[in-house]
Amino acid sequence: MSDLVLQRIVDAIRERGPISFAEFMELALYGPGGFYERTPIGARGHFVTSPHVHPFFAELLLRAVVGLWEHLERPTPLRVVEVGAGDGTLAAWLLRLAPELDLPISYSAVERSPGARERLLALDPSPDVREQLTELGPLEGAVVIANELLDNLPFRRVRGTAAGVVEVRVGLREDRLAEVEGPLDERLEALAPRLRPGEEAVVPVGALAFVEELASVLRRGYALLIDYGTTNGQGSAGEVHGYRRHAVLEDVLADPGSSDVTAGVDLGAVAALATAVGLVDHGPVPQRAALTVLGFGEWSDLQRERQARLMAEGSGSAAVRIFQGRSRASLLVDPAALGSHWWLLLSTPSLPTPAWYRAAAGSLS
Ligand SMILES: C[S@@+](CC[C@H](N)C(=O)[O-])C[C@H]1O[C@@H](n2cnc3c(N)ncnc32)[C@H](O)[C@@H]1O
Repeated sequence: MSDLVLQRIVDAIRERGPISFAEFMELALYGPGGFYERTPIGARGHFVTSPHVHPFFAELLLRAVVGLWEHLERPTPLRVVEVGAGDGTLAAWLLRLAPELDLPISYSAVERSPGARERLLALDPSPDVREQLTELGPLEGAVVIANELLDNLPFRRVRGTAAGVVEVRVGLREDRLAEVEGPLDERLEALAPRLRPGEEAVVPVGALAFVEELASVLRRGYALLIDYGTTNGQGSAGEVHGYRRHAVLEDVLADPGSSDVTAGVDLGAVAALATAVGLVDHGPVPQRAALTVLGFGEWSDLQRERQARLMAEGSGSAAVRIFQGRSRASLLVDPAALGSHWWLLLSTPSLPTPAWYRAAAGSLS
């Protein structure tokens, strides 16, 4: 599989010279034979995300969606659009749980990956499955959700040197893929942060293009973008890395197509562009704060009580199962794990900031 990817990358470089890191990602992740051609997500794949960690994530997210539905004056059905829906774990839970909360939804799952689209179509009930968000517009009375989409959208890389900031492109050195430094073009001149020699940053060109697309299709509604990264306007966080079989991989050029390629998202830049294209930025809140105000703590206490009761009744193995579920779920709010992800709520103008979101932001001060 990845031979094909490598060949296409090498061909592109031989034809045009070193390619941008964004183009490398396009080919390694989304081109023929690329990492996302089949869906690599889940316990049996290469990495897991919040919806896989525990179904209670979906339940809490749905409570948030109910709040947004109320602010949209309860459109029936509410259009829920999940972009980058992956293997459909979140979609399956939301579709199952919405009737229990009396929330009428019509669910569209947008996926670029052909393997993921197959998995989404096989769900029962199955969502409306699309390849591109723009197939769905204009969206009126809608909630768009994207969990860990932005960090996987192609980005460009820049590095500070003694001679100023340069772009880090992908070229060939002795027939192997290698980082090659080159001058900034006009786009990067405008977007790249100031960097001291040795500092690096990623410029989220794919995430920015997604925000423009979102603004062009969302006529009235909210968008909840969940991802890891920074919100302080200081550029992207962390290093470019990959995941293969649940292990972090540093050298993403070594075997393209066989691993994920990701980096923390500059959510400050995403929010700034959202505002510039007419959306409202309700400010980011950490996932741990959002899930806590939505009821994580109460649920966790209840689970602990059930566990103690089962132990007292002599049902040790049932108690252990509850303990294991509770431990897994705690990763969702753990600041050293998924709890440090950010929830960035955007909306079209004149929609209020929901109470749960204000409470989550308030809980930080
Ligand atoms: C890290 S995965 C997250 C999947 C899922 N949201 C989850 O939390 O498990 C990112 C997903 O976004 C998809 N994707 C990437 N670019 C996309 C785009 N422009 N439109 C729709 N889906 C996209 C990828 O195919 C991949 O399945």
